[in-house]
Amino acid sequence: MTGLLTLDAVRFGYDPERPVLEDISFAVQHGEVVAVVGRNGAGKSTMLRLLNGLLRPDAGRLTIAGRDSADLKVSEIAAHIGTVFQAPEQQIFNATVRSEIGFGPAQQGLAPREQAARIDEAVARTGLEGVLDTHPLDLDAAMRRFVAVASVIACRPDLMLLDEAQRGLDATRRATLGGIIADWKASGRAIVLVCHDMDFVAAHADRVLGLAAGRLAVDAPVRDFFADAAATRAVSVEQPGIVALAQALGQPVALSASELVTGLAPRLKGGA
Ligand SMILES: Nc1ncnc2c1ncn2[C@@H]1O[C@H](COP(=O)(O)OP(=O)(O)OP(=O)(O)O)[C@@H](O)[C@H]1O
Ligand SMILES: [Mg+2]
Repeated sequence: MTGLLTLDAVRFGYDPERPVLEDISFAVQHGEVVAVVGRNGAGKSTMLRLLNGLLRPDAGRLTIAGRDSADLKVSEIAAHIGTVFQAPEQQIFNATVRSEIGFGPAQQGLAPREQAARIDEAVARTGLEGVLDTHPLDLDAAMRRFVAVASVIACRPDLMLLDEAQRGLDATRRATLGGIIADWKASGRAIVLVCHDMDFVAAHADRVLGLAAGRLAVDAPVRDFFADAAATRAVSVEQPGIVALAQALGQPVALSASELVTGLAPRLKGGA
């Protein structure tokens, strides 16, 4: 399978003499949610900037929808890949939430009615109805992030990149973001999310890519990753609370409370 996105032996350094990422190879398929994890400075955001074409590999090959990204302009890559940056204020440049969300569909040359439908859908999904005429930079950090998410939703790319999009969200907004991720996956599109929050990774990712010392130290299904203490240690992350609890109870890896309860049911019925 060619994959939606493939990297083959990619290397990159801001100073090419000192690579930040080296020998990175993986593929992302339609319908996958892939988490990129690793300690501060491991190169996670750099990797996203390579995926969306803001940075170009010093060596190796990156293909998007089967085409070598070296042959694609940033605007052509943007048709396939939308990004919510770690600091969304750096990507917001319109004077109202409505115009910010509508910018991408307008650039795509969609008919006005389709543009309006895209804006309505993205606004409903992100809960921004009440702030359409507000300046995005007058919103709090979490709402600004949802403006960036809505802008990506409105463009309907195959792949959405999220850099720490869950950071600092309250429970309601976290659930909203989780729902957006689930719907995106269900529609056969893909997500690569950079995330320091292992509870969020356990709840939403299918697969984990772990960076350590500039290399891809881990590429594993999320359940296998959290079952392997050596793997989590290798990329300097903690186990999610639910996984630690399952292990303390002598259960196999559980990725959610309901999974843990299901696993415990026979013991509970037996009165153990
Ligand atoms: N624009 C830049 N110019 C030069 N070096 C940079 C630049 N951006 C990042 N770096 C360096 O590249 C390395 C990887 O940074 P990156 O931001 O990709 O890490 P990260 O994994 O996203 O970290 P965090 O978890 O803190 O967000 C770090 O050593 C960082 O200092
Ligand atoms: Mg980062």
